Amino acid sequence: MVAEKTLEDIPGVGPAIAEKLREAGYNDLLAIAVASPGDLAERCEIGEKKAMDIIEGAKLCADIGGFETGSEILERRKEIVKLTTGSKAFDELLAGGLESQSIVEFFGEFGSSKTQVCFQLAVNATMPEERGGLDSDVIIIDSENTFRPERIVQMATYLGLDPDATLARIHVARAFNSQHQILLVEKAMELAQTMKVRLMIVDSLTSHFRAEYVGRGTLAERQQVLNRHMHDLLNFATLNNAVIAVTNQVAAKPDAFFGDPTRPIGGHIVGHTATFRIYLRKGKAGKRVARLIDSPNLPEGEAVFMVTEDGIKD
Ligand code: GTP
Ligand code: MG
Repeated sequence: MVAEKTLEDIPGVGPAIAEKLREAGYNDLLAIAVASPGDLAERCEIGEKKAMDIIEGAKLCADIGGFETGSEILERRKEIVKLTTGSKAFDELLAGGLESQSIVEFFGEFGSSKTQVCFQLAVNATMPEERGGLDSDVIIIDSENTFRPERIVQMATYLGLDPDATLARIHVARAFNSQHQILLVEKAMELAQTMKVRLMIVDSLTSHFRAEYVGRGTLAERQQVLNRHMHDLLNFATLNNAVIAVTNQVAAKPDAFFGDPTRPIGGHIVGHTATFRIYLRKGKAGKRVARLIDSPNLPEGEAVFMVTEDGIKD
């Protein structure tokens, strides 16, 4: 990989100005390239002319990305693989399972089985492709300290897999706050260069953001950081032909800061970047209902499944 350029690579930006930029929240070249000179000058307490030069310099250094032909995109999409959920009905809802090169968001109330679904996906991903797996290692970013190896063992045993071998392929990191969570995606990129990782789970995507950015004044900043995080995840998905599964809790009761209780936290930022959104809710007699909310190429619909000691089943 080519070494990524840093702020110090912009002509005329030395360590002192780089520090000012970072303190003002301009952490990467792209953020500077798309900034307005007035804002940047004010936030960094520098002259507007200097700000304009910095922005011009950043535009030259930043990887703004280019255009791809439809055929190139089709070629990449041919590599898409699908991961089974463990339930036939649930898989059918998704036209065969969770697609690689995409972000799948599971949202729902506490206890709606978001975490259980993640465990099952982790186990399934280690299986060969003939069984609906991805024959790959798995990365889990655990922000709520809810990873339970015992559950992995139960699910793996039920599927006839070696529980120890399964656990050995699941790499878990606790995220202590939102910034740490973001850094762990970078770490995950490094790990994925040394082994095949076709599933990354972030459970929960939003809880740290929700806890840290409290109050109306912080909303714009939270959405901006979350947006960047989502794009990092999408980048991981594309580069590694991986499925990204993220969870998002919706409040059971109306929430003063997050508005409509039936809407997932992170609002349109998370919603627009996630390729698939699945709403989970509790049904009768231990059943769970999955509802496909938003998909670029599949009809909306529902599937009923069960959470059992053996895992997700019909
Ligand atoms: P939050 O993270 O709190 O938002 O909830 P969640 O959506 O992640 O819920 P989670 O996946 O933790 O679901 C918990 C539910 O799964 C429990 O209420 C149980 O009903 C079910 N569950 C967990 N373990 C088992 C098990 O071993 N056997 C059975 N039958 N059900 C289980
Ligand atoms: Mg959970």
